[in-house]
Amino acid sequence: METKLKSVGIVGTGFYVPEKVLTNFDLEKMVDTTDEWIRTRTGIKERRIASDKEAASDLAIKASNKSLEDAKIYPAEIDLIIVATLSSDMLFPSTACLVQKNIGAVNAVAFDLEAACSGFIYGLSIAQQYLQNGTYKTALVIGAEIFSRILDWQDRNTCVLFGDGAGAVVLKEVEEGSGILSTYLGADGSGADLLRLPAGGSRLPPSHETINRRLHYIKTNGREVYKFATKSMVETVMKGLSRVGLSTKNIDLLIPHQANIRIIECVAEKLGLPMEKVFVNVDRYGNTSAASIPIALSEALQQGRIKKNDIVILVSFGAGLTYGATIIKR
Ligand code: UT7
Repeated sequence: METKLKSVGIVGTGFYVPEKVLTNFDLEKMVDTTDEWIRTRTGIKERRIASDKEAASDLAIKASNKSLEDAKIYPAEIDLIIVATLSSDMLFPSTACLVQKNIGAVNAVAFDLEAACSGFIYGLSIAQQYLQNGTYKTALVIGAEIFSRILDWQDRNTCVLFGDGAGAVVLKEVEEGSGILSTYLGADGSGADLLRLPAGGSRLPPSHETINRRLHYIKTNGREVYKFATKSMVETVMKGLSRVGLSTKNIDLLIPHQANIRIIECVAEKLGLPMEKVFVNVDRYGNTSAASIPIALSEALQQGRIKKNDIVILVSFGAGLTYGATIIKR
């Protein structure tokens, strides 16, 4: 017997960014860089930095509570919690379990997901499957990062790019034909060396040597990641659209991963989209990795940028390498 899949959509969003603002001018005092270089090469003006007392789960909890309030649901209604993060509180237990306890989601299954900056899109897709087939009714998908703890504050190639924050969404069954219309995910492990945190895992456990060689910090080949980003995001959007018989003309708002304004503008141009149809907040938060899309989506909704029946595309790329897009009808 064939079971009809349910339509699943985002029914609540929320985000939280730490209070402390770190400007490009502050960075000028820390490494050999300038506000002018950072603004013109990345579009970033400032980013948020977590306090010493905050860990990824603290940011995730604040974003989650806002999304539950927005969705008007109680924590006990949540069946599934997925936290996409690269900067979890600890290697284990999962940040998702810490969130589950702290928000009082006593009935939820909880796990973390690691797909770098594409983690939130991967998480949405997993939650969507469970809800579509009726296994679960309500899911909470979160992107939460404290990259300031895994950045080398002596390395100008990376420390100027990232910021801290968290975004969360609640997913439930929605009116037929609306919600998530399609998802397209991909991975290319041949690019694993391009963006990584080498030590602290089973390959290179912590030692005096790994610390002395600064291997507990993010290393990247920015130029190669840049090339991959522009190519993969365009292809991913096109593949996602074609799965549901839509074209770029149908896009009302593109919410791309906020890594670099030049990447965003290049993707918009290749898709033939004017920048009015593209959401940008990289200037205020920098790259918040897995949190970037849910923060941007929350802000876009708050600013009234998404109307009923609009077609919205979330698209990301990240370490792995990974990429993915979600096509949504509000
Ligand atoms: O979300 C996934 C993670 N995101 C990424 O991995 C970022 C993707 N890549 C990018 O956004 C860009 O490639 C960057 C912003 C990282 C770099 O921009 P670029 O236009 O590709 O610059 P570049 O790497 O070609 O570097 C140009 C120059 C270099 O100097 P030389 O070798 O030409 O003398 C760098 O050393 O800029 C230098 N540079 C800096 N100068 C001042 C690199 N970082 C800085 C800095 N301040 N912070």
